[in-house]
Amino acid sequence: MENKLDKIMDVALKRGFFWPSAENYSDKQAGFFDYGPNGRALKENIIRIWRKELVNKEGMIEIDGCQILPKSVFVASGHLTSFNDPLITCKKCKFKIRADQLIQERTKKEVPEKLSMDEYDKLIKKNKIKCPKCKSEFSKTGIWNLMFPLGIGTERKEAYLRGESCQSIFTSFPRIFKTSRKNLPFGIAQTGKVFRNEISPRQNLLRTREFNQAEIEVFFNPETENDFKLKETKLNFHIKNKVQRISVKEAVKKKIIISNLIAHYLVLLKEFHEKLGISEKEMRFRKLEDKDKPFYSKETWDFEVLTSTGWLELVACNHRSDYDLKGHGRISKQKLDVVDEKTGKRVLPNVFELSAGIDRILYALLELNYKEDKKNERTLFSFKPKLAPVFVAIFPLVNKEGMPKVAKEIFNQLNEEFDCFYDESGSIGRRYRRQDEIGTPFCITVDGQTLKDKTVTLRFRDDLKQIRVKITDLAKKLKDLKI
Ligand code: GAP
Repeated sequence: MENKLDKIMDVALKRGFFWPSAENYSDKQAGFFDYGPNGRALKENIIRIWRKELVNKEGMIEIDGCQILPKSVFVASGHLTSFNDPLITCKKCKFKIRADQLIQERTKKEVPEKLSMDEYDKLIKKNKIKCPKCKSEFSKTGIWNLMFPLGIGTERKEAYLRGESCQSIFTSFPRIFKTSRKNLPFGIAQTGKVFRNEISPRQNLLRTREFNQAEIEVFFNPETENDFKLKETKLNFHIKNKVQRISVKEAVKKKIIISNLIAHYLVLLKEFHEKLGISEKEMRFRKLEDKDKPFYSKETWDFEVLTSTGWLELVACNHRSDYDLKGHGRISKQKLDVVDEKTGKRVLPNVFELSAGIDRILYALLELNYKEDKKNERTLFSFKPKLAPVFVAIFPLVNKEGMPKVAKEIFNQLNEEFDCFYDESGSIGRRYRRQDEIGTPFCITVDGQTLKDKTVTLRFRDDLKQIRVKITDLAKKLKDLKI
C-alpha cells in the first residue's frame, strides 16, 4: 500500500506544489526541489504568519543576509570542524550512507547523533549490519562535513554556502545593535535558503540539500533571563521518553526549562503553530539529551508534530549561550559585548534561537490537511483560509451572456486585497474540484441571476454550502472569513 509520504509527493507533483529540481536531466541530484505556484504561495503564507505571530508581535528586527559567507565566519561558528555526520562506505560497491540512519533503520531504536566513530563501528558490528545494496561489509565510520564549499572570484577564495541562516545575524549583530536603538533582550529574525551536503537526502522535503529556514535569534543578558512574565499556558513536554503536560511556570520551577525567557518563546511557538491550524494534541516539545544536542547548544528543545513518518522535528529551539558571539569576537578580533541599559553593565549577550524548517512545516501542513471525501468524490486540502495558496476563485458559470465580463470585474476588484484566481475553462463541477484539490476555501460563481440582481454564489470548500451574496458585500464578507 502506498504510504502517506509517497501519496503527498504524488499529490504535490500533480497539483503544482513542488517537484524534483531539473527533473528532466540525467545528472539531476537528490535532495533538491523546485516549488511550483501553489507550493510557493503556501510557503509565503507560512512565512507571512510567522512574521506576524513571532517577529512583529515581539517587536523583532528582520534582516536579509547573504547565503555565501567567507571561510572565517564558519571557522568562528565551528561549522568547518563540528558540523559533521558519520559516513560509512561499502567496501565492495562503494555505496555511502549515514551510519546513524542505517543503524536506526535496522535496529528500530533511536541512535544518538553524537556518538564517537568507534561507537558507530561497534553498533554496526554488534547488529551485523551489511550494505543494503550488495550485502558486503562497510569500511570504518568516517567524518562527513555538511558544508558546501565555493571559490569566489578569479582567485577562487575559499567560502561556503551557509549551513544555517543565522550566521549573518551574528556577524551583523554589532551594527544592528548600534543602528536599531534596541536594548536587550531583543530578537533578530531572518528567512532564506540554507545548504547542507547531506549524505542521504530522503523523504521528499524532509531531508534535502537546499531548504528554507525562518530563524529567530533572541539576544539577552543572562542576568535578566528570568525577567519574563509567564502565562499559565500548558505545553506537552517529552523528556526522556515520558510525556508531561504541565504549565511553563511549573516547568521553570521544576528546572525542566532553563529560564522564563525560553518558556516565553516556547509558548509563542506553540501559538504560531496553532495559527497554522495544527492542534495541540499533534504537537510536543522534546528535550534533547546531551548526546543529541548540536555542538553550539546548552539546552535544546525540538518542536515536533505528529505525522505519518512519526514525530517530525519542525523547529529546533537552542539556548546557544554566548557561543556564537564569543567565537565571532575571537576570530574577527572585535569586541562584541554591549551595555545592557537595564543593568548598566557591559555584557556579551547570550542567544536563544527558534530555528524553523519551512519546508518541513509545509510538508506537515499538506499531510495534516489532506482529505479524501469519498461521498462527494473529491480530494481536498482543508487549509485555514489565510494559509491557502488561493483564497478565492472566481468563475463565470458559462462563457456567454456577459458572465465572463462581470466575473473579471469581480476578480479585479477582489485581487487588490486577496489572493484570487480566475477560471473559465471546463465544467463548473470540474473547476470546483480543481480548487478543492489545492485547498481554495471559497469560490464565487457569476450566473444568470447575477445579471438580474447583482448577487453571486459563494461556495464553501469544507461543507460545500452555497450562499448568495451581493457583489457589493463580497469584500467585507471575505475579510470576515479570512481566519
Ligand atoms: N540554526 C539552528 C539549526 O539550523 P537545525 O536543527 O540544524 O538547527 C533547524 O535546523 C530546522 O531546519 C530543523 O528543525 C528542520 O525543520 C530544518 N532542517 C534541518 N535540516 C534539514 C534538511 N536537510 N532538510 C530540510 N529541513 C531541514
